[in-house]
Amino acid sequence: MTVYYGDICVGSIACRVERVSATTVKLYIMTFGILAPYRRLGIGAKLMGHILDVCHKNATVLEIYLHVQTNNEEALAFYRNFGFEVREKIENYYTDIEPPDCYLLVKELSRILKGRNTT
Ligand SMILES: CC(C)(COP(=O)(O)OP(=O)(O)OC[C@H]1O[C@@H](n2cnc3c(N)ncnc32)[C@H](O)[C@@H]1OP(=O)(O)O)[C@@H](O)C(=O)NCCC(=O)NCCS
Ligand SMILES: *[C@@H]1O[C@H](CO)[C@@H](O)[C@H](O)[C@H]1NC(C)=O
Repeated sequence: MTVYYGDICVGSIACRVERVSATTVKLYIMTFGILAPYRRLGIGAKLMGHILDVCHKNATVLEIYLHVQTNNEEALAFYRNFGFEVREKIENYYTDIEPPDCYLLVKELSRILKGRNTT
């Protein structure tokens, strides 16, 4: 999915649906980025809000998860706002960037409050 501001493509998100059981799935966020001059304008939050909305409405989605480089303070602050939590630190996850370590961030969707929780 891509986001436009006028004619300019300012952001994109790529997700993958992974089957967990016959009736449940997890959503893996593969890439998520807003073009640098357009950051801190709420565009990323709007896009993430849309993803969460879609997931909350679909009871088959148990959780959303992703990997973030350990030094990516912006992204960590961003995801924390949406209730993502660090599940574990994975060393040497990346082979082509420094530092090579990442955090596994997970947001579990509460199915008890289905349709009522906002984030
Ligand atoms: C992470 C990213 C997607 C955020 O997108 P964005 O459109 O700038 O985010 P928003 O403007 O919607 O920010 C929402 C909130 O997240 C937090 N946040 C976002 N950027 C932040 C930063 N640089 N420092 C601290 N907090 C930040 C803030 O709480 C912010 O709310 P506020 O602006 O009212 O304080 C963007 O910084 C980005 O594209 N980074 C590079 C790519 C990347 O690292 N992707 C994630 C790994 S896949
Ligand atoms: C919920 O998500 C699953 C898995 O992606 C999909 O097959 C199904 O069509 C979705 N249901 C609704 C109502 O969108």
